[in-house]
Amino acid sequence: MFTKQGWAVMFDEESRVTILSTGSFSMLTFCIFVASVAINKYEEDKRIVPKLIEPPSVIVAPSHEFCDGFLYLIAVYTRVNEPEARNRFRNSYGSLSSKYNFTVIFPLGTGDGEANNGVMQEYHQFGDILQTNFDDSFRNLTLKAGITSYSISNFVRENCTSVRAVLKLDDDVEWNVQKMVAKMATVDVKGKRLYCEVRQCGIPQRLKGGK
Ligand SMILES: *[C@@H]1O[C@H](CO)[C@@H](O)[C@H](O)[C@H]1NC(C)=O
Ligand SMILES: *[C@@H]1O[C@H](CO)[C@@H](O)[C@H](O)[C@H]1NC(C)=O
Ligand SMILES: *[C@@H]1O[C@H](CO)[C@@H](O)[C@H](O)[C@H]1NC(C)=O
Repeated sequence: MFTKQGWAVMFDEESRVTILSTGSFSMLTFCIFVASVAINKYEEDKRIVPKLIEPPSVIVAPSHEFCDGFLYLIAVYTRVNEPEARNRFRNSYGSLSSKYNFTVIFPLGTGDGEANNGVMQEYHQFGDILQTNFDDSFRNLTLKAGITSYSISNFVRENCTSVRAVLKLDDDVEWNVQKMVAKMATVDVKGKRLYCEVRQCGIPQRLKGGK
């Protein structure tokens, strides 16, 4: 739109013109970069989306009777390669299972060979693993939330319809078991509701290093 001369006339100083042109050039580069990232992201999503249309295939799942006799199911999200996080949960909150009438399940994706072998051992030892066939990585966190919700809801629909409520937890959350169970005792079982906390005027973290 502007010739170099045009700029010079506007600002009357060669150096400012240069700065501005460089600025607008890098602005343009930035815009192209943002656009190409957005396009790549879209392409990536397009690759991922078809995988969400079908439920991911189940590798191992707790038995059909897993939920029998329990009022609540607690799905705890852990990383596939962090068995210690699951053990921590089993030994802490998990030990209150019969007192508060809940059972615990760990939905997972797949990891490397070693992680998968470990998961198989855990499954045989504890029977509380639901592993479905998708790559469980941090980069895939959104996908993971989607797929594990997908896997867990399929599992519940097929194998766990007797519980009153399902609680989804991250493994780094501290919670008051007594209060939570009291809350779950009041859920409207016929209403097919999703309960969650609404944070009024919450500001999402958009820093580069944030999630
Ligand atoms: C859990 O609740 C069910 C239904 O009320 C009951 O049959 C069962 O015995 C309870 N289990 C425990 C461990 O208290
Ligand atoms: C995310 O999951 C998809 C589907 O399982 C997989 O193809 C892809 O490689 C994963 N991406 C990363 C970065 O792990
Ligand atoms: C339901 O449980 C059975 C028995 O463990 C398992 O084979 C099946 O995959 C489970 N269904 C889902 C959708 O997880």
